[in-house]
Amino acid sequence: MNYLITGSGGQLGQDWVRYARRNNLNFTAVTSSGLDITDKEKVHQFLKTEKPDVVINCAAYTKVDQAETETEKAFAVNADGVKHLAESCRTIGALLVHYSTDYVFAGNLADRDTYPRGYTEEAPRNPSNIYGKSKHTGEIALIGSGTEYLLIRVSWLCGRYGSNFVKTMLRLAKEREEVSVVNDQFGSPSFAFDVVEKTDALIRNNLRGTYHISSNGELAWADFADQVFQESGTGTSVKQISSEQFAAKAKRPAYSLLCNKKMEKAGIKPLDWKDGLSRLMKQLNEDENLS
Ligand SMILES: NC(=O)c1ccc[n+]([C@@H]2O[C@H](COP(=O)([O-])OP(=O)(O)OC[C@H]3O[C@@H](n4cnc5c(N)ncnc54)[C@H](OP(=O)(O)O)[C@@H]3O)[C@@H](O)[C@H]2O)c1
Repeated sequence: MNYLITGSGGQLGQDWVRYARRNNLNFTAVTSSGLDITDKEKVHQFLKTEKPDVVINCAAYTKVDQAETETEKAFAVNADGVKHLAESCRTIGALLVHYSTDYVFAGNLADRDTYPRGYTEEAPRNPSNIYGKSKHTGEIALIGSGTEYLLIRVSWLCGRYGSNFVKTMLRLAKEREEVSVVNDQFGSPSFAFDVVEKTDALIRNNLRGTYHISSNGELAWADFADQVFQESGTGTSVKQISSEQFAAKAKRPAYSLLCNKKMEKAGIKPLDWKDGLSRLMKQLNEDENLS
């Protein structure tokens, strides 16, 4: 099986490349400069030449606040780009594995009553910011494209590469004794290494359709930060603040827990979030010792 990894310079893309190397997969990886997915003709030519069996789309516009003003750019990558990949995959008969986000859901705290174990794959989508809307439009394009697909939603993505919440907290812990973190947005992290391993399991088990890959447990960002500081032994404390006090440009979901039941029913056991964090912290320590 030949894999093509798009957006391979990003957080998830780099973890995919690492996994592919370590598992001796036949793969080609392209960064944004090697293949711009907004260029329909180039996408088509590239896929026709490479003829992958599976395309893993890690390319995305992920700047949540900037998307509020760079709307066109967000839609070009997250909606049109996905459409181009899906059309080309259909033409060559490849499976398209695409990643989406918890931000496609409304994210109201009241939804916890309906989905106490997290939003299910089939829950109605109603994004509240531009990034979420662009990703939702990409989902619609993929589902309607007629290509074979795996649509995988992840949340609070953290890995050893790129920038993410865990790495930001570790950096701030070196500079400050106390860090302010919101305590009124609830969800659960997806760990990049785990997302990659589980995605490959879904592919190999011939599963298709929509799946959530997150970790088990519900927490607030403030709890997440607290656990990072405890694990790292920095002695830094968390000052709990509200989303209003943090005042980000784009509206964030108050509740964005993803239900992992469907994946579990498929025989793929979700990670507990604290175990996932411990494994990520080990990876980050290894990387620091190597550099
Ligand atoms: N990060 C999160 O917390 C989070 C949460 C939920 C879901 N997700 C989803 O998970 C997936 C992976 O996210 P991530 O954190 O790995 O994102 P990331 O680190 O921002 O990586 C995205 C990659 O896409 C590339 N890219 C941007 N525009 C492109 C284009 N037109 N053509 C080709 N490549 C392009 C970027 O390259 P340049 O840097 O060169 O632009 C970057 O390498 C995305 O679908 C994202 O929406 C992420």
